[in-house]
Amino acid sequence: MNDRRDAPIGVFDSGMGGLSVVRDIQAHLPDESICYFADTAHVPYGCRTDDDIRQLTAQAVAWLYESGCKAVVVACNTASAFSLTALREHYGAGFPIIGLVPAVKPAVAATHTHRVGVLATQGTLRGTLLNDVIREVATPAGVQVLTAVSPKLVPFVEQGRQNSPECDAELLQILSPLAAAGVDQLVLGCTHYPFLRPAIRRVFGDQFALIDSGAAVAKQTGRVLAQHGLARVHRPCRPNAKPLDICVSGDVSSARHVVATLLECPFILRAMT
Ligand code: DGL
Repeated sequence: MNDRRDAPIGVFDSGMGGLSVVRDIQAHLPDESICYFADTAHVPYGCRTDDDIRQLTAQAVAWLYESGCKAVVVACNTASAFSLTALREHYGAGFPIIGLVPAVKPAVAATHTHRVGVLATQGTLRGTLLNDVIREVATPAGVQVLTAVSPKLVPFVEQGRQNSPECDAELLQILSPLAAAGVDQLVLGCTHYPFLRPAIRRVFGDQFALIDSGAAVAKQTGRVLAQHGLARVHRPCRPNAKPLDICVSGDVSSARHVVATLLECPFILRAMT
């Protein structure tokens, strides 16, 4: 008999960035299986219009729903910024949608300089989720939020060039003003950016604490699944050692090389059908 609790969690991003969130979900919820969808035919979303982002996100979530997932994690700050309310209204409580917002809250709690940086896409900086959290959390605490944006960073990760001299040079250029302003907490407000941690450390050493939302989202996913009676039952005799299922809307063979630079776990890669 089919048990919905055994269905995979759908995880979606414009591209491979959401794999940084997958790592946290796998660590926190080892009994769950995951179906990851990367909309590589349309990445990057960050420079697209609000309507484009909404439409592409709706298509991606619909595909995961029709593929039999029990819930979806929108592992993309840009997609979350424009789509969460509409998606939740559309699918209702029976199909939970978990989204992301840049981790400004823990950064505000941790800053000693009262200056927090947010590195995010243009879309996320324009969206309401980030601006709401700045207004509700940072401003009342007297913390100044400085933002940085670059259209080049997501493509570097999508090409497997996150450890290249060109990527280091771009980070130096866009983050130097934040370092000069005394920012001590840098929020990685795009799920591609945790893959830039080694590069940021290489260029800026320990100048910033680097904060992302992955672990918090993984915990929230566990809570939401439990609340909806959708958490997978732990079976000690059947450990979930299946390779990660990754579907892409773009070219499969170029994606294989990129995923291998980002993930250590086994995976299978297939085209979205
Ligand atoms: N990974 C995405 C995010 O968290 C989107 C990047 C993009 O497609 O521009 O915002």
